Amino acid sequence: MRVLVLNGPNLGRLGRRQPEIYGSTTHAELASLCVGWGAALGLEVDLRQTNHEGVLLDWLNDAADQATPVVLNAAAWTHYSYAVFDACAQLTAPLVEVHISDPTQRPEVFRHTSVVTPHAAEVIAGHGIDGYRLALESVARLRQDPTQG
Ligand code: DQA
Repeated sequence: MRVLVLNGPNLGRLGRRQPEIYGSTTHAELASLCVGWGAALGLEVDLRQTNHEGVLLDWLNDAADQATPVVLNAAAWTHYSYAVFDACAQLTAPLVEVHISDPTQRPEVFRHTSVVTPHAAEVIAGHGIDGYRLALESVARLRQDPTQG
């Protein structure tokens, strides 16, 4: 089964961006880790990152049309994009929200709201890069038993 792992703005700078919060793993390293973790679970991972909101919306719309499961780190868009909210609402296959940090525990109040959570079968936050492995495990589990979301 194919799984889209979609990363939003500034996540392409992983490894260089605030490593004290987001760690030292680069986005390229994250991509190959996800492909390996997915393969071990029987999932074909297609990982993408964009700094352009419309591009993410197009990917989410395609995922809705093709009933593709999505692991989504919408980064800052998580906190205010009603377009992302509407795109996530259309998804039919499992959606798992992931964050490297735990936005709900961070001091900026704007991070405490997520437009993705209402549509997510599961939210994984604060586990660093390993959160993506947990999110892929969640997709694999949900595929086997969709009632366990
Ligand atoms: C993030 C948390 C967001 O608040 C932030 O805007 C990001 C990354 C995370 O993975 O911890 O860009 O989604």
